[in-house]
Amino acid sequence: MDTIIKTSRKEGIILTVGNYKGGAGKTSNSTLIGYTLAKMGVKVLVVDLDPQTNATKSLLLTKSALEKDQIMTINKTIMSGVANGSFTDLPVNIMPNYDLLPSYPDFGDFSKYVYKHANTEIEEVSVLKPLLDDLRPKYDLIILDIPPMSREVTANATIASDYTLISFQTQERSLTGAENYINDLLNYKDKYNLDIDVVGILPVLQNKKGTVDNAMLNMAKDIFGESLVFDSVIPHMERIKRFDITGITDRDRFDKKVMQTYRTATDEFIERINVLEENKNE
Ligand SMILES: Nc1ncnc2c1ncn2[C@@H]1O[C@H](COP(=O)(O)OP(=O)(O)O)[C@@H](O)[C@H]1O
Ligand SMILES: [Mg+2]
Repeated sequence: MDTIIKTSRKEGIILTVGNYKGGAGKTSNSTLIGYTLAKMGVKVLVVDLDPQTNATKSLLLTKSALEKDQIMTINKTIMSGVANGSFTDLPVNIMPNYDLLPSYPDFGDFSKYVYKHANTEIEEVSVLKPLLDDLRPKYDLIILDIPPMSREVTANATIASDYTLISFQTQERSLTGAENYINDLLNYKDKYNLDIDVVGILPVLQNKKGTVDNAMLNMAKDIFGESLVFDSVIPHMERIKRFDITGITDRDRFDKKVMQTYRTATDEFIERINVLEENKNE
């Protein structure tokens, strides 16, 4: 790999952005860290594993804002990819270095599919792994954006991953969602002998004033340990919300402010991965 990610691996790294709670910043962090890395020359794929298709909508809007007259249609859905046993022809290009594997509402049937086709517990949680492994050669980093509250998708994503980044919006339920996610992750790690590490917990601030945010940040540090919580925080920015409807833009000063914030967080993200990769080689 010849990028700012320092690793001796020959193929791309897979990372899940985790938290059981919805509204924890998973999709915004996935798409914006992906965007920032792509601009830095890292070949990124975001895999949208949420049938609510939030990452898909935001990134397809990003694409159409960049290429005005293009019309995008999805020919094959992610669920048909699961059923056919291949994801390789599903990614679509968003911009240089940045691809998306789009979701579709039929992915809501993933758990039904799993219980129908798997015979053992290990088969149930290993449906996505081979499909995602096939995508590794084309990318430096594959980011899995998972839905809230789906144990089947979360388990499958986690088991396919080398790393997880915990997205933590500073509110009680998001903290519980992060705790439950990390507990399950440790269980899977133990049970299935996984080589997966937590890159860190990236806080997304909920309020402008900050008193509740600070209390929640301190609670997270107490629970998970200070070193696991990112130094960088993503402040509350209306512009990030707007990206849900406009796609990611980088034109005016409000866009630039978001880009600057994510650049700082992404630099720390890379630094943390590089340290973990270096330790793996020792
Ligand atoms: N830093 C932020 N400032 C303001 N709004 C944000 C921020 N991060 C995320 N949001 C908004 O909060 C909502 C939930 O975030 P999202 O990334 O979709 O969470 P999840 O994927 O965990 O459900 C979305 O409307 C998103 O635009
Ligand atoms: Mg989401």
